[in-house]
Amino acid sequence: MERRAVYTAVTVAAVACVVAVLIIRKRSKGIKWGKVKEMFAEIQSKCALPTEKLKQIASAMETEMHAGLASDGGSKLKMLLSYVDKLPTGDEKGLFYALDLGGTNFRVLRVQLGGKKGRVVDQDHLEVSIPPHLMIGACQDLFDFIAEALSRFAALESEEHKLPEGKQRELGFTFSFPVKQLSLSSGTLIKWTKGFSIEEAIGKDVVAELTKAMERQGLDMKVTALVNDTVGTLVGGRYDDSDVMAGVILGTGSNAAYVERASTISKWHGDLPQSGEMVINMEWGNFKSPLLPITEFDEAMDFESLNPGEQIFEKLVSGMYLGEVVRRVLLKVAQEYPIFGDIVPPKLETPFILRTPQMSKIHHDSSPDLKDVGTKLKEVLGIHNTSLKTRKFVVDVCDMVAKRAARLAAAGIYGIIKKIGRDTKSDPKQRTVIAIDGGLFEHYTIFSKCLDDTLKELLGEEMKNSVVITHSNDGSGVGAALIAASHSDN
Ligand code: GLC
Repeated sequence: MERRAVYTAVTVAAVACVVAVLIIRKRSKGIKWGKVKEMFAEIQSKCALPTEKLKQIASAMETEMHAGLASDGGSKLKMLLSYVDKLPTGDEKGLFYALDLGGTNFRVLRVQLGGKKGRVVDQDHLEVSIPPHLMIGACQDLFDFIAEALSRFAALESEEHKLPEGKQRELGFTFSFPVKQLSLSSGTLIKWTKGFSIEEAIGKDVVAELTKAMERQGLDMKVTALVNDTVGTLVGGRYDDSDVMAGVILGTGSNAAYVERASTISKWHGDLPQSGEMVINMEWGNFKSPLLPITEFDEAMDFESLNPGEQIFEKLVSGMYLGEVVRRVLLKVAQEYPIFGDIVPPKLETPFILRTPQMSKIHHDSSPDLKDVGTKLKEVLGIHNTSLKTRKFVVDVCDMVAKRAARLAAAGIYGIIKKIGRDTKSDPKQRTVIAIDGGLFEHYTIFSKCLDDTLKELLGEEMKNSVVITHSNDGSGVGAALIAASHSDN
């Protein structure tokens, strides 16, 4: 009796397997792959970025940089003054705090700087994720939440970290949104980006808001410097390598800052800094040009976003959006051809369900049967039993979207290199280093490799070894502490 039951179970399982295989075969047979490929080729042609086109984009970026430096509102590129006119020398000493706010997480850091010999002697940090409702809620609630974490972190100061009586703790505040800086330690928020939307905060001095929140917590700390993450990355990178000329973020959002000759900033009416230099926060995420390869998918995503018409370059390049563009392409194809079965998988219709780290996992699957792709499609989109052909197609879509982003980011960097005149050789020994940070750059290997290769392609044989990209790990937090240190009154 028992034997019979086992026999029946085995037979049923075997029949089920055969049926499943037949269904998959039938489905993939039902797909007109020729037509799918045709449709995809058309999308690919819209995303194409041959070298010449990238060079034109870099030139357009350079032109906009000039316009943005000439007058406020002169360009889509805000070219914001950072008031950072002294770059670190290595002599910075003392204990400094940094607060890094700019994405779904924020970090607080304590950095002990030991001068030329000691460098960063000690460093610890706390990372906190921001509850989504605070990103679109009330200004005070967001700053109270941050100040509370900061206060908790400061309370963990060990005896050796304690400042002498009468000295106040100093903080470098990395605030990674467009800010009209009023001085090194104050600035008003121009607009939100990256999914934040707290209307009442626009136009407010974010340092004053943080200071009030710290006072409500009874925390004795002073904001010495307000910096963008790109500026922090540049400064953090420069601390390690004196040839660093620009800082780039490729993460949830994307942006760049670079060292400009102060005399060329015609909208700057103050005294020329002693160094003759000023770091400019480009806010390149807002770059826009008819040359950009914008598809119907980008247009629809932009239209439905919190900031339609804005941050167009960022929407093509940064981690917040890449997975979403892939989802939109897959949805359109699935609506026309049964690549995922006869019905369009309902989850595929959910905006932002496919995040860029998941897309990266799919893209990096090198197994012969694309097992990870299958797993991700199941886990994220509820799509079971895909054929190898379908899985390969999904990888191709990721490849197109990621490489378009990487090539555009490289064009942006090349635009900066041209602006500062480092695209030709004046001195054979001259090196130009670009410090980059952000999860997209750090974790999406195919993306960063493509970025590097494209930059070399743009630079050409003669220059390709004179420009170097480095990963400035955590540069923005340490950079803010360094700026606080070099401007400290303690
Ligand atoms: C967004 C912000 C910008 C920031 C970038 C990277 O583009 O507007 O200030 O630097 O994201 O975090």
